[in-house]
Amino acid sequence: MLPVLPLLLLATRVYGGHVVKHDTTCIVQPSGNFTDDSPAIVEAFTLCGQGGMIEFLNETYWIEKVMNTTGLNDVQIDLRGTLLWSAANISYWLENSLPLGYQNQSSAWFLGGNNITFNGHGYGTFNGNGQIWYDYTKGVSNLAGRPHALTIWETNNSTFTGIRFLQSQMWTMTLAYSSFVNMSDIFVSSLSNDSEPARNTDGADTLGSHHIIFRGWEVHNGDDSIAMKRNSSDILIENSSFYTGLGVAIGSIGQYLDEVEFVERVLTRNCSFIGTRYVGYIKTWTGVQQGFPPNGGGGGTGWVRDVAWTNSTLSQIVLQPAEITQCTTFSGAVGECDTSTLQISNITWSGLEGSITNSSIADLECSGAAPCQNLEILNSNFILGTNATAGTYSCHAVTSTEGFTCS
Ligand SMILES: *[C@@H]1O[C@H](CO)[C@@H](O)[C@H](O)[C@H]1NC(C)=O
Ligand SMILES: *[C@@H]1O[C@H](CO)[C@@H](O)[C@H](O)[C@H]1NC(C)=O
Ligand SMILES: *[C@@H]1O[C@H](CO)[C@@H](O)[C@H](O)[C@H]1NC(C)=O
Ligand SMILES: *[C@@H]1O[C@H](CO)[C@@H](O)[C@H](O)[C@H]1NC(C)=O
Ligand SMILES: *[C@@H]1O[C@H](CO)[C@@H](O)[C@H](O)[C@H]1NC(C)=O
Ligand SMILES: *[C@@H]1O[C@H](CO)[C@@H](O)[C@H](O)[C@H]1NC(C)=O
Ligand SMILES: *[C@@H]1O[C@H](CO)[C@@H](O)[C@H](O)[C@H]1NC(C)=O
Ligand SMILES: *[C@@H]1O[C@H](CO)[C@@H](O)[C@H](O)[C@H]1NC(C)=O
Ligand SMILES: *[C@@H]1O[C@H](CO)[C@@H](O)[C@H](O)[C@H]1NC(C)=O
Ligand SMILES: *[C@@H]1O[C@H](CO)[C@@H](O)[C@H](O)[C@H]1NC(C)=O
Ligand SMILES: *[C@@H]1O[C@H](CO)[C@@H](O)[C@H](O)[C@H]1NC(C)=O
Ligand SMILES: *[C@@H]1O[C@H](CO)[C@@H](O)[C@H](O)[C@H]1NC(C)=O
Repeated sequence: MLPVLPLLLLATRVYGGHVVKHDTTCIVQPSGNFTDDSPAIVEAFTLCGQGGMIEFLNETYWIEKVMNTTGLNDVQIDLRGTLLWSAANISYWLENSLPLGYQNQSSAWFLGGNNITFNGHGYGTFNGNGQIWYDYTKGVSNLAGRPHALTIWETNNSTFTGIRFLQSQMWTMTLAYSSFVNMSDIFVSSLSNDSEPARNTDGADTLGSHHIIFRGWEVHNGDDSIAMKRNSSDILIENSSFYTGLGVAIGSIGQYLDEVEFVERVLTRNCSFIGTRYVGYIKTWTGVQQGFPPNGGGGGTGWVRDVAWTNSTLSQIVLQPAEITQCTTFSGAVGECDTSTLQISNITWSGLEGSITNSSIADLECSGAAPCQNLEILNSNFILGTNATAGTYSCHAVTSTEGFTCS
């Protein structure tokens, strides 16, 4: 062990934790008494975020304020304790969560830079105190200001490993405008303890991000297990288990009038889907704008292509393994399902094996304005629900299929 020299900092701060700095290593000492540790955390990143190391002890850190620690370089972050977010002051978060500039989404923590190694050693934990948010939002889809737990912002050449995320406030994490990031051995559990649903608790979302690997994840949640949102490419999801959520999603995209958005080259393989609604699904907004983001929109265009869900096991899939809809619109609005010009092509579900709860294997509802091309369901073995005699494949505006015939 190196000797640790205490350094007194910020004499003006009257509460919360403090930083002990030695060379380029910053150890964050928590207050331990539920006073705000976020100023000390931010200070550690300021002092040691360029070529240094930031260490959290096996203790609980209490966070009452937003944190913005971007522009880091060559830094190692060791989380051996729990970061626990306060949700006592809902109006503070609604007013101050940091904006992503997309869908009015916002975040409690922006973290980013080049060559970051964030290690939770299998037990370092983010606890978002989400139950308070699930109860507060009462199922409203996107409440402006409800924060994501973590935004990985403008990050390159980095790894996040061995971290646990419990009861996230909303989406668990968003990789935004980031490339060459590996996310491995991540555990996510955001489940409501009461009758209010844990809606919008996605395990992870990508936005404007490329060359991302998700490996060794376990996600228990009430929304997309992992979702690729606009302008994402070259994504690999493997060796992971998804419980109770919606499965691995593409979209929704096409929400912004006249904007071109894409998702391409996404491979999901060697995963388990347990009681999820789908295995792989794609959702786009209609071609007709109704209302405005975050909860309305439509009229965007672009493409989704070269996406595959392969070599995975299923158990009790609630709706169907394969799903496409181009009918997303403002809640309450209906119709215009043939208007999206967003082109979906080269989509594969293959090597899937296990049980579904009824007879539906695929529900592929594409848009008449841009019919889906080259949809494949191959080499799979679905054990149908009780009383089901034959698997069904519903299709609309699908021009070419392989491995199945539309029912
Ligand atoms: C909380 O702990 C800090 C030391 O980290 C101390 O300065 C502060 O007085 C304590 N506050 C309370 C309310 O006990
Ligand atoms: C963290 O500290 C707790 C006691 O506060 C202890 O039970 C636990 O084993 C420690 N975990 C690790 C990984 O050191
Ligand atoms: C990345 O950062 C580590 C320190 O955390 C450093 O040892 C390594 O050289 C850096 N890599 C590059 C390519 O700069
Ligand atoms: C809660 O946050 C609001 C908005 O930031 C602030 O005005 C208010 O003083 C805070 N309330 C408490 C009890 O801290
Ligand atoms: C975070 O801090 C950087 C540097 O000060 C600033 O440019 C950026 O706008 C901040 N981000 C947010 C979301 O506030
Ligand atoms: C969403 O953000 C836009 C600007 O980007 C703003 O005009 C609109 O009022 C916001 N909506 C809500 C519900 O906050
Ligand atoms: C990440 O790399 C891309 C492409 O090399 C670059 O445009 C971007 O500025 C980099 N981001 C950071 C935070 O360095
Ligand atoms: C990422 O790392 C590779 C080599 O490891 C290096 O060539 C590349 O420049 C780095 N990119 C950024 C944006 O730092
Ligand atoms: C991410 O993982 C891939 C494949 O395992 C590896 O080639 C790459 O170097 C890793 N990137 C980082 C930033 O660790
Ligand atoms: C899926 O498994 C088959 C048979 O083992 C193998 O040939 C194929 O390469 C695998 N696909 C992927 C994407 O790993
Ligand atoms: C679909 O995949 C085939 C074969 O891999 C390729 O030739 C074709 O260009 C792809 N089409 C699109 C629209 O991506
Ligand atoms: C299967 O059919 C039997 C007889 O019609 C019925 O009683 C039972 O509820 C059905 N089971 C399911 C799961 O639908």
